[in-house]
Amino acid sequence: MRMRKRAHLEERIGVLSPLMVYTKEEIDSFRDGKKIYLEIGCGKGRFIRECALRDAEIPHLAVEHYDNVAILAAEAAEREGIKNIRFSFSDIEKLDGEIEEGSVKRIYLNFSDPWPKKKQAKRRLTHPSFLKMYKKWLSEDGEIFFKTDNEKLFEFSLNSFCSEDFILSNITFDLHNSDFEGNIMTEYETKFAEEGKNIFRLEARKRL
Ligand SMILES: C[S@@+](CC[C@H](N)C(=O)[O-])C[C@H]1O[C@@H](n2cnc3c(N)ncnc32)[C@H](O)[C@@H]1O
Repeated sequence: MRMRKRAHLEERIGVLSPLMVYTKEEIDSFRDGKKIYLEIGCGKGRFIRECALRDAEIPHLAVEHYDNVAILAAEAAEREGIKNIRFSFSDIEKLDGEIEEGSVKRIYLNFSDPWPKKKQAKRRLTHPSFLKMYKKWLSEDGEIFFKTDNEKLFEFSLNSFCSEDFILSNITFDLHNSDFEGNIMTEYETKFAEEGKNIFRLEARKRL
């Protein structure tokens, strides 16, 4: 069942238009020659707002195609006065051609939809077709940080990253009981942790 549209959604999006970037010109103007950190599927955006505060010199781009939740992320960023964050309320694939090749230092994929059926595999954000697109965007020292609660998606993703020749590191099957420091929790992560689920995490880098 599809959630009802939030009240006055179009007006609320209009008010936040200074925080929105969609075209290559808008994205390039925002990053002003710097490399960006990109979150794909930011949901309500707690994670990317905290990242932007922590890495205040880095321009952060949060992409979320479901405007009903993305509006909450953008409104919170505005309310909190976070300057180094912009939003695209868009499917990530629509930004192919808009994001300059080599202009992304880091991609965050947090609790991406698992799309469990075999015939849905192409929609998974770690499918090789997506990884090929990310590879173009990533700088030579670029990296992808991926977290999920879904073991099957994690297994699928390990294979995808390997088939696209990424180098994997810092792999954990239980992030919250690992040595990893500085974890920033997402909304879904909090919920899954409360349910007692393990969180899987990996880092992937392009082979030079
Ligand atoms: C399960 S939620 C996780 C939200 C958030 N990252 C968190 O951990 O709390 C996955 C989000 O990814 C978004 N998403 C899925 N596929 C996407 C795509 N192709 N482009 C942009 N957003 C996408 C969904 O709309 C959804 O909000």
